[in-house]
Amino acid sequence: MAVGEEGIEKCLKIAHGLPEWFNKAGLRVMERELREEKTFLAVEGDGLLGFVTIKPLNEKALEILWIAVRRELRGKGIGTKLLEFVEGWAKDRGFELLVVKSSGDLTYKPYDETREFYERRGFARIALIDPYPEWGEPALIYVKALNTTK
Ligand SMILES: CC(C)(COP(=O)(O)OP(=O)(O)OC[C@H]1O[C@@H](n2cnc3c(N)ncnc32)[C@H](O)[C@@H]1OP(=O)(O)O)[C@@H](O)C(=O)NCCC(=O)NCCS
Repeated sequence: MAVGEEGIEKCLKIAHGLPEWFNKAGLRVMERELREEKTFLAVEGDGLLGFVTIKPLNEKALEILWIAVRRELRGKGIGTKLLEFVEGWAKDRGFELLVVKSSGDLTYKPYDETREFYERRGFARIALIDPYPEWGEPALIYVKALNTTK
């Protein structure tokens, strides 16, 4: 679903609260992709806890473009729930692979937690591209095969 203006503002507010992970250039791309691509929200009451934005790369592979959880709520399982939701959604639609790009600067500590998050949830590193042309900085490419029964 496109999340609407109010949803976009709330997602951006979460991302603004995580400056170690999302810089100005990233936030600009995020804003555009929140408008153009599909985003799922984790909500409780009126509050937004986190979000995940996805985009099909082709009919078999789905990319996670952005995932973020409100700073003070990190580490409580919300990101895992968002990921599990995307996995179910993707499998139901015949996708076989999840793809995600993360920072490939292995000396930058904040992304240690992010890499740990993906790796403990079954993502495998397949390439480190340095520099990744669109970013001008290194990117680590992760994939996760979805267990499909075909
Ligand atoms: C990555 C992110 C979406 C995960 O969501 P989350 O709700 O914090 O994750 P969960 O609580 O489900 O899982 C936490 C996992 O992250 C890792 N982690 C390590 N240190 C952590 C920390 N200080 N805080 C949170 N997670 C940490 C662990 O692998 C942990 O797994 P475990 O539960 O098996 O120990 C969230 O932490 C976040 O918004 N991070 C900043 C933005 C970001 O990196 N986004 C991805 C790049 S696009």
